Amino acid sequence: MIEVRGLEKHFGKTKALDGVDLDVEQGTILGLLGPNGAGKTTLVRILATLLVPDAGSAKIAGHNVAEEPTVIRSLMGLAGQYAAVDEHLTGRESLELVGRLYHLSRSEAKKRASEVLERFRLEDAADRPAKTYSGGMRRRLDLGASLVGRPPVLLLDEPTTGLDPRTRMELWSLINDLVAEGTTILLTTQYLEEADQLAKKIVVIDRGKAIADGTSDELKNQLGGDVLELKVDHESFIKDAAAILEKVSGAEPLFDEAQLKFSIPAPGGASTLIEVVRLLDERKIKVEDVGIRRPSLDDVFLALTGHVAEDHSPAIDEAGKGSGNRNRSRRSKSGFDESGERG
Ligand SMILES: Nc1ncnc2c1ncn2[C@@H]1O[C@H](COP(=O)(O)OP(=O)(O)OP(=O)(O)O)[C@@H](O)[C@H]1O
Ligand SMILES: [Mg+2]
Repeated sequence: MIEVRGLEKHFGKTKALDGVDLDVEQGTILGLLGPNGAGKTTLVRILATLLVPDAGSAKIAGHNVAEEPTVIRSLMGLAGQYAAVDEHLTGRESLELVGRLYHLSRSEAKKRASEVLERFRLEDAADRPAKTYSGGMRRRLDLGASLVGRPPVLLLDEPTTGLDPRTRMELWSLINDLVAEGTTILLTTQYLEEADQLAKKIVVIDRGKAIADGTSDELKNQLGGDVLELKVDHESFIKDAAAILEKVSGAEPLFDEAQLKFSIPAPGGASTLIEVVRLLDERKIKVEDVGIRRPSLDDVFLALTGHVAEDHSPAIDEAGKGSGNRNRSRRSKSGFDESGERG
């Protein structure tokens, strides 16, 4: 339904898109995962006919976005990165206006606006100006507006950025419903667990290039299995613990300064754990926690890009959902090497 080939876009010296390919099957959702400045919005704006690419092509339902913008606009709904609702209109007025722009009759536009308000639980606030809405309500209205014309393809640019965990989960469930009804969705996100929860297929984008794709499990498997995590009891143990982990894994361990927590790949599983524990004990290093876990998408991102995802999402675990062992805090390499080299 969406087909992107060799897409390039420059802004002066910035290569916002540097040859991106992607495909989204009809009735599925593709998660485009990348940090700030990766090129996500640029890609969405090209698909939405708001920007013209420098090279490559993008098609929606077989129509080239650069050549047939009018057809594309009738096929596609867009909810941009920043909610674009008119503050002075009420929710209902905004939706009716969008309906009229889609050439619905006045009565059809009214009917459709009511349906969308109900679906997005905005009925109580429907007749208040949007400037009185909370951030979550504005987001819902914005997403609702993109659905008034019942487009078969939806482009959602960071639809849950800045929302609290409960509101995010509500939006996720609405988005899942839309996919179940057959809508094709391209969703950009910098939230690793958002891609994990919503998208069967994920494309990781960084500095204008797609650097990996696959299901969340496939991406995690690329890291080659289990990870050993070690939390030391006191800062004074950091140096010795790092040396032991480096000796065992043959590479520099990742280090989370805030939590005094290390992680290394543990292809040997339990035997790696036993070896590490033995060495720690020999050196009398006090440990708060040590264990083996499956890699998270955070680990994948770091391994692929050499830098940590700019993930400012609130911890979903606190709302009682999520895998419970996600590492929410920012990480840096131990040895304090911040060269950011790839691989
Ligand atoms: N209109 C523009 N003029 C100049 N540079 C631009 C323009 N739009 C985007 N860029 C640059 O292109 C690169 C990609 O930007 P883009 O907005 O696509 O990133 P993004 O992945 O959406 O980031 P974010 O997660 O912060 O929204 C950035 O370096 C950005 O500064
Ligand atoms: Mg963006």
